[in-house]
Amino acid sequence: MLSIVNSCCCLGLETHYVRVEADVSRGLPAFNIVGLPDAAVREATERVRGAIRNAGFEFPVKRITVNLAPADLRKEGSLFDLPIAIGILAATGQIPSTIIPRHLFVGELSLDGTICPSPGILSMAGSIGKEHPQKIFIVPHDNLEEASLIKGVDAKGAGHLSDMIGYIRGEKELPAAADIPDFELQPEPGAAAHLDFADVKGQQRVKRALEIAAAGGHNILMIGPPGAGKTLLARRLPSILPPLSREECLEVTRIYSVAGLLPKDHPVIRARPFRAPHHTASAVSIIGGGRVPRPGEVSFATHGVLFLDELPEYHRDVLESLRQPLEDGIVTVTRAAGAFTFPARFIFAASMNPCPCGHLGDPGRECICTPHQAQRYRSRVSGPILDRIDMHVEAPRLELRDLKAEKKEESSQEIGKRITKARQRQRERFQGAAINCNAEMQNHHLPRYCPLDNNAKELLYQAFHKLKLSMRALDRVVKIARTIADIAESPRIEEINLAEAIQYRCLDRSLW
Ligand SMILES: Nc1ncnc2c1ncn2[C@@H]1O[C@H](COP(=O)(O)OP(=O)(O)OP(=O)(O)O)[C@@H](O)[C@H]1O
Ligand SMILES: [Mg+2]
Ligand SMILES: [Zn+2]
Repeated sequence: MLSIVNSCCCLGLETHYVRVEADVSRGLPAFNIVGLPDAAVREATERVRGAIRNAGFEFPVKRITVNLAPADLRKEGSLFDLPIAIGILAATGQIPSTIIPRHLFVGELSLDGTICPSPGILSMAGSIGKEHPQKIFIVPHDNLEEASLIKGVDAKGAGHLSDMIGYIRGEKELPAAADIPDFELQPEPGAAAHLDFADVKGQQRVKRALEIAAAGGHNILMIGPPGAGKTLLARRLPSILPPLSREECLEVTRIYSVAGLLPKDHPVIRARPFRAPHHTASAVSIIGGGRVPRPGEVSFATHGVLFLDELPEYHRDVLESLRQPLEDGIVTVTRAAGAFTFPARFIFAASMNPCPCGHLGDPGRECICTPHQAQRYRSRVSGPILDRIDMHVEAPRLELRDLKAEKKEESSQEIGKRITKARQRQRERFQGAAINCNAEMQNHHLPRYCPLDNNAKELLYQAFHKLKLSMRALDRVVKIARTIADIAESPRIEEINLAEAIQYRCLDRSLW
């Protein structure tokens, strides 16, 4: 007897529909699955056999062939276990097949029949809501809350194969997504909530630059001697970013879901991500990739912060492959199975010392590097990468008077208030356009959103000529000036805003 069960899987962030065909016939006992890679097949047969027996059903001593169609789709993972088990049980008449076609099933089985959570449920639910809204989506019970984030999807959660069978036999109900209260947008303190700008003494210039970066979504590089507080400052960046919107939460959650990184008790990511991969991390872990393409750190940082501490220490190929996400807000990973695109729109923050010993230009201590050593160290960060970083700011050694000052430093909450206002101005400006913040403006948007008067234009030409700024750098200067004007609650970009923005592009000229 042949039975057909609908299922789906996630490749990259895309959902693909899979038909699981189970045929049970007389003949020499065998269990073959076609349409899966070799190793996965062996494991799936063992799990399905064990789960069916331990749930109290009979595993047929017959010739079983399971086909996963379409054959050309590269299927990965263990989430076809459940549909395979249901197919075999239906084909042997142990369960009725009447209601099966109305459903889509995914889930990994353990040997005792428990249905274990799977990655990518949110992506699949999103796609089913659009393409098969009339179907009921059966997910592992632990993924039910995740599936319920998508409105218009009729999802039910199954925790054990025997519950599943009870449901198909019409003896039992399964918990439905609708039973879970609607996910409300409660901004959540990030993992770094206890980090506050009030703890950082002095460094007003760097703080100002970080405020601008947070307000307009700009990238920032901090350069300075050891112990100046660069790492300290960067870790506080999320504390001044506004809370995520519902759409942003869903987008971030989708990425973590596909990578199987959602904490079990925590199906929605509500805090802005802060990712700080170590400099020994491989290009695949930062950019994404692998046999089954998985998003990397640049995607996990979406709508949050990607912080690369000690920038020149990262592998060259890592730094070079940052070009695409920095420019386009997406990352494309090409593999045998095809090209996969993941979102990668984040605030890029980086820190570095000016030379190997760290004290070049430090009035407090002498640099012991040769000019050649210093030059070689800095050249590890290539010009094209530097050009893509909007702001370069110097973090000098703390002065004694800053250390002694008993002055109360401004808290993250106070800074955050100005940022919320500046973001509000940006939302109003970009209404109807697919732009969230100033940094996301394309070059062709500038004349419309950032008109400059003659004095400002003249200043810009001077900067181009005297500071030898590139065209890309000029565009970035204008966007930063727009953010500075937004913080100052000024509708126009004033000369003084532009002058401040230009300052953040001077350092690379003097050091590189
Ligand atoms: N501005 C500051 N206010 C308060 N504490 C500071 C400040 N700057 C540095 N510190 C102290 O010095 C320590 C080192 O700072 P941090 O690690 O941020 O330096 P860094 O600039 O990243 O240095 P490196 O270049 O060596 O990585 C911090 O843990 C903190 O205790
Ligand atoms: Mg540091
Ligand atoms: Zn040095």
